[in-house]
Amino acid sequence: MDKLSNKVAIVTGSSKGIGKSIAEVFSQKGAHVVVTSRNLSSAKAIVEDLGSYGTDPIAIKTDITKNDDVSNLIQTTKNHYGKIDILINNAGFPLVSEYWDSSFNDIDIEGFKKIIESDLIGSIRCCKAVIPVMKESNSGNIVNISSTPAIAGHSQGSPYTIAKSGLMGLTKHLALEYGKYNIRTNCLALGNIKSSATFDHFDNKTQQKLANEASVKRWGEPIDVANICSSVVTDDFSFVNGQTIVVDGGNVLL
Ligand SMILES: NC(=O)c1ccc[n+]([C@@H]2O[C@H](COP(=O)([O-])OP(=O)(O)OC[C@H]3O[C@@H](n4cnc5c(N)ncnc54)[C@H](OP(=O)(O)O)[C@@H]3O)[C@@H](O)[C@H]2O)c1
Repeated sequence: MDKLSNKVAIVTGSSKGIGKSIAEVFSQKGAHVVVTSRNLSSAKAIVEDLGSYGTDPIAIKTDITKNDDVSNLIQTTKNHYGKIDILINNAGFPLVSEYWDSSFNDIDIEGFKKIIESDLIGSIRCCKAVIPVMKESNSGNIVNISSTPAIAGHSQGSPYTIAKSGLMGLTKHLALEYGKYNIRTNCLALGNIKSSATFDHFDNKTQQKLANEASVKRWGEPIDVANICSSVVTDDFSFVNGQTIVVDGGNVLL
């Protein structure tokens, strides 16, 4: 039996990119996956693809910036499966030039708030909703998807860096407060991962330059992240809590 068999896993933002790959790998490994998107038909399309694994995946329309959506996500999942084992906080604000390519001083406060609201508060919102359910079963796993600028800093994309740094603090806090309930919280700090949202944002020359940042001289694939994510939540990692694991092909070294 696979280590994720019969585990119930919510993957936020699993309509495409890294989240979609996490949903696929978790399903392959036997987990019941809850696919979320702000667009129900996008989530349903992924669930249809996952149907072949026979793991009863479901689609739930969720905008993580909305309290009612997140409450509904957790309640519907609990009603359907009777428990929630895993939350992957993957959903994130898209990489857009307006915020990624602009100077700190050219981004207004509303811009900062928008990204912090989805990348940081959205994940906090999901954690707040899921923790009581995990406490009931005295077990759970949360993985927050952060980014290497949260560790090393970056000269652009300041709202993303700030929001993703907050996720590392959130991870440490939840680990220390809820470890005693056998709820583990860890974080993955990603480098350059070839989701179309990120890869296609750059011209060819920049794509090559970014590949060369990694000591392994390539972009990471979404499945690289999915494979690590699917290991971190198993008992193979049962003594790892509150950590940030860098997934960047060896660039930012701790
Ligand atoms: N790719 C990289 O190189 C890289 C590097 C570091 C960190 N990351 C992080 O990895 C995660 C996934 O990135 P990606 O490249 O796969 O991005 P992506 O292809 O743009 O996918 C983002 C996902 O998040 C969802 N989403 C966005 N805003 C949302 C909201 N308010 N509520 C619910 N869902 C929302 C999107 O769903 P819908 O649009 O369908 O609603 C989509 O499924 C993000 O947190 C990103 O910051 C990526």
